[in-house]
Amino acid sequence: MSLRNSFKQTLLNALARLPDGVQRAMFAPQVRRICIRLPLLRAVYSGCLRRHPIDLQYGTDTSGLVDELGIQPDGCRVDQLNPYMGSQPTIIRRALDTLGDIRGYTFVDIGCGKGRPLIVASEYPFAEVRGYDISPDLVATANANAAAIARRFPARPPIRAVIADAENLALPAGKIVLFMFNPFGDELMATLLRNLEAGLASGEIEHLFIVYDIPVCGALFDASTALRRWFATTFPYDPDELGFGPEVADSVVIWQSVRGARPDAFAARNGRITTKDRFTAVIE
Ligand SMILES: C[S@@+](CC[C@H](N)C(=O)[O-])C[C@H]1O[C@@H](n2cnc3c(N)ncnc32)[C@H](O)[C@@H]1O
Repeated sequence: MSLRNSFKQTLLNALARLPDGVQRAMFAPQVRRICIRLPLLRAVYSGCLRRHPIDLQYGTDTSGLVDELGIQPDGCRVDQLNPYMGSQPTIIRRALDTLGDIRGYTFVDIGCGKGRPLIVASEYPFAEVRGYDISPDLVATANANAAAIARRFPARPPIRAVIADAENLALPAGKIVLFMFNPFGDELMATLLRNLEAGLASGEIEHLFIVYDIPVCGALFDASTALRRWFATTFPYDPDELGFGPEVADSVVIWQSVRGARPDAFAARNGRITTKDRFTAVIE
């Protein structure tokens, strides 16, 4: 990592650890109006550096922002991968609530980062909860969070995060709910899709839901004959989560596999995905 980037990441980490009161003060309209103009402080106003309510609730560490070079210090394929920031729990919950009975399914987060979706998924009766991320540091934090959840809620499904590159993942067999919060671009997504299609064709994957939060590569999944749409909408952030992420709402599209498909349950599923840039996709 270059000296500039290492300084930037250290500063972001320090800002993320500022006491809650200081962070709240930084969001006061008069302070925000001035500070948002300063290049390094701009990251503060993504909201990602504030300690998220889910961390206050569970005593975990899923907040913060880790940029591409913080994730891949050797700079390898940084143009393909997206920075770490946690997704909004209420959006994950609302998406999972559309799926119906998920007992016996494994929840998988591709690009799990510090594991916020893994914590949320452990609130549901999944058989297992698993995360994969390319960054060893983020995976270590996700596993520390998993241990905190297991201590506090021993009856919840086991959570495990694994260091892995989405380019060559060994996915679990059986029934899967696969979650993604915009982890990377088209090239890697096409490789992941081929992997999923092969698992479905061989019967190793019996049924699959893909829950894609900010589906910038959604056209790839729409073009797959192994998948069909289950649900599509734009979920607003919960009022308690406003100011803890860069947006006020996220588009979410859910596909299910043709193999083992459930009967369609939602009229709202065929909205067109328009990808504006690598961080923005809207449902129209
Ligand atoms: C936007 S964050 C999402 C974090 C988490 N899923 C959430 O919703 O809170 C994207 C994550 O994808 C991971 N990632 C990017 N490229 C990857 C790859 N090739 N293989 C595995 N993980 C990757 C990054 O390290 C980062 O943690």
